[in-house]
Amino acid sequence: GSYGDDFAHISIPLDKKWEINREHLRVDGQLGEGAFGRVLKATAIGFPGFPPRHTVAIKTLKENSTEAELVDLLSEMNMMKNIGKHKNIVNLIGCCTQNGPLFMVIEYAKFGNLRQFLRDRRPANGEFIDTSTEEDSSADGEKRSSEEAITLSDLVSFAFQIARGMEYLESKKCVHRDLAARNILVSEDKVLKVADFGLARDVHAMDYYRKTTDGRLPVKWMAIEALFDRVYSSKSDVWGFGVVLWEILTFGGTPYPSLPVEDLFELLQSGYRMEKPHNCPQNIYEIMQNCWAENPLNRPTFPNLVQIFDSILTNLL
Ligand code: ADE
Repeated sequence: GSYGDDFAHISIPLDKKWEINREHLRVDGQLGEGAFGRVLKATAIGFPGFPPRHTVAIKTLKENSTEAELVDLLSEMNMMKNIGKHKNIVNLIGCCTQNGPLFMVIEYAKFGNLRQFLRDRRPANGEFIDTSTEEDSSADGEKRSSEEAITLSDLVSFAFQIARGMEYLESKKCVHRDLAARNILVSEDKVLKVADFGLARDVHAMDYYRKTTDGRLPVKWMAIEALFDRVYSSKSDVWGFGVVLWEILTFGGTPYPSLPVEDLFELLQSGYRMEKPHNCPQNIYEIMQNCWAENPLNRPTFPNLVQIFDSILTNLL
């Protein structure tokens, strides 16, 4: 049968505070698919507190999913209920837990994930668009209008917003464990939202050789102590933030391309870190390097990072 039927023997307790009547949702298509489930695009119609028609995303299970995956999705949903709302995280809107497949209804981000967003907007000549020259270049009749062009201020604002979202998650005792540009969504008005923070992750069962759908190795975002000792904390999230910063400044580049996992272990242990991206300001490169300090205590905190990027942004505007 259809998904959900497989778990007809499991009843999920009704939580009236979050339950959405399925009649309010019209599924329009699929946004993504992972190993565990899929994300659908849908329209919430006549849903209280929202515009008459509002696009949402729905996380659900695949037809062939196991009971363990249902438990994981329920745990993610509970995590999101408990964490509460913030502008720079993907917020839970509600859920459908009765009479059909489990739907976790979350905010829809129009521009998809940050990695693809940046790759689609890479400056053609590899040159970085400086805030001060933005108007000049559009006047010269370039391919991209100044409205679309990504400036250094945008990139710094992205870093600031991610730090904001992570500062909030840390305040709610939430450790992300997989902070990467692929897990950050871009919403209207270039508002960034940290996604997938509520995932249940079995750090002991983790496969270091597992690749993402685009063939990249998640270990390349992992802090040295997470890699060697499976120690995860907001400090290890800060390391991941440093890699995201590198992804931002390279417009969606791939960290340590074609480097095998075994070599990454040795490279990091020897003290090697990624080089400064082309056109990356020295002060921003130094922040990345600080995020990659071997001793977690020597890394900046998310509140530090919020303040640092706020002041860089102020100086650019
Ligand atoms: N892809 C995965 N989740 C998404 C969301 N919430 N909005 C847009 N695209 C997505």
